[in-house]
Order: sequence, then structure tokens, then C-alpha cells
Amino acid sequence: MKQKTLSQLAPEAARILDSLSQDGEVLQMRRYRQHGDVSTFDHCRNVAELSVRINRRLHLRADEAALARGAMLHDFYLYDWHTPDPSHHLHGFRHPERAAQNAIRRFDVGETEQRIIRSHMWPLTLTKPPRCREAWIVCLADKYCAVTETLFRGRRAK
Ligand SMILES: [Fe+2]
Ligand SMILES: [Fe+2]
Repeated sequence: MKQKTLSQLAPEAARILDSLSQDGEVLQMRRYRQHGDVSTFDHCRNVAELSVRINRRLHLRADEAALARGAMLHDFYLYDWHTPDPSHHLHGFRHPERAAQNAIRRFDVGETEQRIIRSHMWPLTLTKPPRCREAWIVCLADKYCAVTETLFRGRRAK
């Protein structure tokens, strides 16, 4: 059986992702490499789409709008972590806060989105565990996508 498209499955979440994907600063993420050949932009779209699908499939009743927005912006830190620069030091630990600050500045995101972004690297960031179901979903979806993007280089995570 063919998998439903995101707009068939969750039209509101799909609209949110499409609208964020047209923003100039969000589009900058296309220039940065995340894993393998996958850009940070495509990685964020993969994580957002998978997060919405997990929520639907497992009937987790997350706030789907916040889930989509937070997932799409979870790596909105706006630099290439592969280029050596003192400001990229300890990238793994620091980029969630950088992404959260950018998301607040650009989109004035709410509490749930901020939690999603700040805790997505847990357990690396030990003191910032996910504290709501939306944050748990994105934390897990991010790890799944990181593995599949690294192994399958550019093929879309499902
Ligand atoms: Fe990240
Ligand atoms: Fe990520």
C-alpha cells in the first residue's frame, strides 16, 4: 500500500512546514551540510515529517502544530558545523540553544517549540531532558534520521 503524503495525513502540519520552508532564513539551511550529503534543511524536513507521522501512527496526541514547527527549527543554528571556527566549538552541546534563540528571534516561537529545540540532543545535553511529549518525539525522530541519513546518504528517511 502506498504511504499517504504528509498533506493527506496531516494538512495543517504540512501547511506549517511549507510556509516555514519559504522563509529566507530557513532556506539558508540548504547551504549547510548535516549528515553525509544531506543539508540541514532536508534533515529538518525529514525530522519534522517523521515526527508528525510518529504522532499519528502511535496516537500520541501531541500538539501537532508545535511539533511540526519545533521539529523544523530544531537545527536552526545557521552555520556549517564542519567548518572550523571558534564559535562552532562544542557544537553538539551548544547548537540547541543557538537554534532556540534564532527561532525566538525570527518566529517568536512558543514554550513547546523552545522545549523541543533545547532538548533534542539529549542525552548528550544531560541537564536538558525532553519534558513534554512533543520534545520526546523530536528527540527520537532526530536520532533515527541522523542514522539513516548517514548510512543512506541523501535518501529520504521514512
Ligand atoms: Fe541538532
Ligand atoms: Fe537534528
